[in-house]
Amino acid sequence: MPNAQLIADRDFVVSELDRMLFGSFVEHMGRSVYSGIYEPDHPTADAHGFRGDVLALVAELGVTLVRYPGGNFLSGYNWEDGVGPQAERPKRRDLAWFSTESNQFGTNEFIDWCRVTGIEPMFGVNLGTRGIDEARRFIEYCNGAPGSALADWRVEHGYRQPHGIKYWCLGNEMDGPWQIGSLTAAEYGRRAQESAKVMRWVDPDVQLAACGSSNRGMQTFGHWEQEVLDHCFDQVDLISLHTYFRNDHDDLGEYFAEIELMDMFIREVVSICDAVAAKRRSPKRVMLSFDEWNVWYRTHSEPYMHKPGWPTAPRLIEEVYDFEDALIVGGALITLINNADRVKIACLAQLVNVIAPIMTEPGGPAWRQTIFWPFALAARHGHGRVLQLHTASPGYTTQAGIEVPYLYATAIDNRADGTVTLMAMNRHQSEPLELNAELRGYGLEELVSATELHEQDTKATNTADEPDRVVPRRLASARLSGAIVQATLQPASWNIIVLRTRDVSHTEA
Ligand code: AHR
Repeated sequence: MPNAQLIADRDFVVSELDRMLFGSFVEHMGRSVYSGIYEPDHPTADAHGFRGDVLALVAELGVTLVRYPGGNFLSGYNWEDGVGPQAERPKRRDLAWFSTESNQFGTNEFIDWCRVTGIEPMFGVNLGTRGIDEARRFIEYCNGAPGSALADWRVEHGYRQPHGIKYWCLGNEMDGPWQIGSLTAAEYGRRAQESAKVMRWVDPDVQLAACGSSNRGMQTFGHWEQEVLDHCFDQVDLISLHTYFRNDHDDLGEYFAEIELMDMFIREVVSICDAVAAKRRSPKRVMLSFDEWNVWYRTHSEPYMHKPGWPTAPRLIEEVYDFEDALIVGGALITLINNADRVKIACLAQLVNVIAPIMTEPGGPAWRQTIFWPFALAARHGHGRVLQLHTASPGYTTQAGIEVPYLYATAIDNRADGTVTLMAMNRHQSEPLELNAELRGYGLEELVSATELHEQDTKATNTADEPDRVVPRRLASARLSGAIVQATLQPASWNIIVLRTRDVSHTEA
């Protein structure tokens, strides 16, 4: 049996983990909003029309932040259509998804949903068909104190208290030719710079994210980030990254390597941000907002652009995830956590129905897809400081020459509750991996829990008829002896081990 070593020390830390890493995304697209989070006629709906079964699953998933209202939808959206009395709101044709938008759900309903769930909102301003003027007006409507026409319009709509929305995206995927009003890097850089400037004048407390490349495969990737930041470096806090994983070869070994590419993508964007800083002799560090990531390939070429008749809330890209996808999502979470010094926000795209961990039927049940589980487990235990890891593991090389160690891991030290959490994947497809993890400087007291995600049939899915086909199980092999944690990680598995530490901080004092 192959074996792998891991060493971590409580004094060697990557960074504090930002809880906004466990974000998600709700777009006006398909059934993400309508019959997703919002369905007034549903038997579980509350007084707001929010589906109660979905609220319960969202709480269990542990999402901390949700990006809204798009996505591609954002670039044609007029926020004014979605506020005020619902009966007076216009129906619009949405050119992003060739659907009809009823506008029955808008900014204030989303804020209500965030208040009910305790989730932090992340809004976007439309820099496709609109620009600086809309950006300043929208932020004043949302965050302005009563006493100006726009803030008073919000008060008229029933919201006296400013919404206090902290996180804002400056447009969406503005480099993509599919985007309504796509721009060159120079055009976008200037628009983002000026929009950010006036948004901050309206509300100095905001955190602003500029659009990076739509994905690492874009021809303009790299140049785009550099040129955009040459313009708006001083005005923005974050730059966005988007990635959708694909199982192109139907080969799990090749699929696992997608996680390595995500890590590479993050390092590349960090380098570009810091190169722009260097040119300016600036100590400022632009942070990363990985505000769209997930598996999406089965429904990628779905002919959504050609659905006739401008349907309302049609079924769009309702990807059914298998166990292999859950492993990729688990691996991506490890990547995000290990890069916590620069990745401050991340959004699993999306939350309900549209490439989502939660699925629903209109008027019917809601259930957890396979990818729900690694996210829920990581979000529950992902608190505290990320530790530096030294690992030694055998591995393999992909067709493209990417080195993939079997062991892929992270460790998080939660001082608040006196635990250390290890997340570890075995990327060997057919053999178990013997893990020896040494956690130095703690004085480990007990194994609190050990959980594995592992299926013989890696193509297994959760469906409305069989919602609990793929679920986490106890990792029975985990054991603790002194500072060493040992476990036999099943082939193609994702595991999470929680350990109680002795409080050594005051013994040291
Ligand atoms: O999440 C689906 C779509 O993917 C988003 O609207 C867009 O930003 C991305 O291309």
